[in-house]
Amino acid sequence: MPKIKEQRMEEIRSFDNTFDWYDYNSSNPFPKGNWNSEVFKNNNPIVLELACGKGEYSVGLGKLYPEKNFVGFDIKGNRLWVGAQNALAQGMRNVRFFRAYIDHLNQFFAEKEVSEIWIIFPDPQLKKDRKKLTSPKFLNLYKPLLKAGATINLKTDSPELYQFTKEVIEEEGLTVLRDVSDIYKECSNDPELSIKTYYEQIHLKKGKKIKFLSFTL
Ligand SMILES: C[S@@+](CC[C@H](N)C(=O)[O-])C[C@H]1O[C@@H](n2cnc3c(N)ncnc32)[C@H](O)[C@@H]1O
Repeated sequence: MPKIKEQRMEEIRSFDNTFDWYDYNSSNPFPKGNWNSEVFKNNNPIVLELACGKGEYSVGLGKLYPEKNFVGFDIKGNRLWVGAQNALAQGMRNVRFFRAYIDHLNQFFAEKEVSEIWIIFPDPQLKKDRKKLTSPKFLNLYKPLLKAGATINLKTDSPELYQFTKEVIEEEGLTVLRDVSDIYKECSNDPELSIKTYYEQIHLKKGKKIKFLSFTL
């Protein structure tokens, strides 16, 4: 592993706003079921950003909604490091980061502990539907953790992932709240949708259309 990546992986373990599944054991358990009481020390809703990369959405939404709590999730410590540093530098106490595989989300959150999920430019996984973060397999993982009426938001450049998710929504009988096929044509002033991540900027430079879906399970 290049030195900078190794260094950042080490550093995030010392950040007081970042959790790393690697450091947890029976004497240092996950805050599962206790995020409000032990981590945020308030009763505000908990919002997850999955595949958060450098955490632009956790930080951006955290500023827009100081009355909500945000947890950015990603397996890549060197990317999380950027978001965690950013939140620390701005003294944001409603934003945390967690380095872990999303596949194990139910080890870190209890039933009905989560109020909303954002999935921002996930890998489209064109060859394996089961690996898509909006596949029925993943929706079944999220479902028990979500409060009634919780929304799932997907922002993507991928026409294939957008179409796949629409088909899953239809097949599973889910409710669409918003369906935007070209954000910057249809709602360029929306403050939530205007947050731009590292990957979004790359896609925009290539002239790709950015899509958004919001739905409930
Ligand atoms: C294309 S990047 C997008 C990052 C960020 N959301 C952005 O827009 O810049 C996808 C991210 O998903 C993360 N990822 C993919 N599968 C994952 C999994 N199963 N568990 C945790 N993170 C995952 C990768 O580490 C990567 O940072």
